[in-house]
Amino acid sequence: MSSEGEYSAVVLDHMRHPRNWGIINRSDGFSRITGPCGDTMEISLNVKDNTIVKCTFDTDGCGATVACGSIVTEMATGEKLCHARQIDQTMVLDCCRGLPAGNVHCAQLAANTLRSAIDDYFQTHQSPWKKIYRIQK
Ligand code: FES
Repeated sequence: MSSEGEYSAVVLDHMRHPRNWGIINRSDGFSRITGPCGDTMEISLNVKDNTIVKCTFDTDGCGATVACGSIVTEMATGEKLCHARQIDQTMVLDCCRGLPAGNVHCAQLAANTLRSAIDDYFQTHQSPWKKIYRIQK
């Protein structure tokens, strides 16, 4: 368990005031991933003209996971899908100004969930009927 003093001011701010919290009904892309630690993150997207116009997250994870979800949704909003899909753990960690060693995987969970939500958009965009079968309404 990390103590507050180990987190950067950016991470503490996102932990205390998470941005883009929630799930979009009728999203264009959605993903839910449970990491090896047992924490789950969900990300949903709205897309227009190949650009992410809205990106939200939800998690049952720790404060660092909340901060990483909040940060990754801010990084993705307004980005072209191809650029947002490049966002990886290192980029999230950079935006966090680092995380304690025990929380580095929280950045990976956020980046992986974003990428998976973008892939879901591509899949359901090509075959809209697939939306009916995915976990989210
Ligand atoms: Fe597992 Fe944060 S402690 S994702």
